[in-house]
Amino acid sequence: MLNPLITTIVNPTAIVVAVIATLLVVLVSSLKGRGWEPATDISDEVLQRRAAAVPETEFPEPGNRSIGGGAVPGSAVGGGGEADGELAEGEAEEAEPSPAEIPDDEADTFEIEYAKEGETIEVKENEPLLDAGEDEGWDLPYACRQGQCVSCGGQVTDGPAEEYLTHDGQEMLSEDELGDGYTLTCVAYPTADLTLETSETP
Ligand code: FES
Repeated sequence: MLNPLITTIVNPTAIVVAVIATLLVVLVSSLKGRGWEPATDISDEVLQRRAAAVPETEFPEPGNRSIGGGAVPGSAVGGGGEADGELAEGEAEEAEPSPAEIPDDEADTFEIEYAKEGETIEVKENEPLLDAGEDEGWDLPYACRQGQCVSCGGQVTDGPAEEYLTHDGQEMLSEDELGDGYTLTCVAYPTADLTLETSETP
């Protein structure tokens, strides 16, 4: 006599019922998935929303929105508030205009005593002390005429050099030397009356 459990497992009726149930499940599942269509194409809407959340830059459309919230002119990627500040600082850094660019009819004139030459002459604020002396016919020393050596050195005897003149690009004298009145006459433009000893170097 067969075990009752084995009898149940091999029962043909039970097998048929199980097969039918399985087929029904498969059929229902396939019907649910068939023919699904998205209600609308949402891709444009999503892009518009993302674009609206990003600040404007100065780029022309369509590339005028930066990634990451930056509004940095000239950069479309990775900008931010901090970058804005850096750029603002960068923009604030402007070189001083050269005194040589002051028009003649707007330039002030100062009395400059060339002690060794024994003369006092008028020099405009847009003319280097070296050039002014040469215009008088004096043989003053120089080499580079660009503030990059000390051949044209002189000394203001009245006090710190930069209280009496402006250097346009001197690269040789230290703060202490300037404080002692030393100057490079090829790039020294007067801003006050002064007495100058030519051919003097620290
Ligand atoms: S000539 Fe060189 S610094 Fe004046």
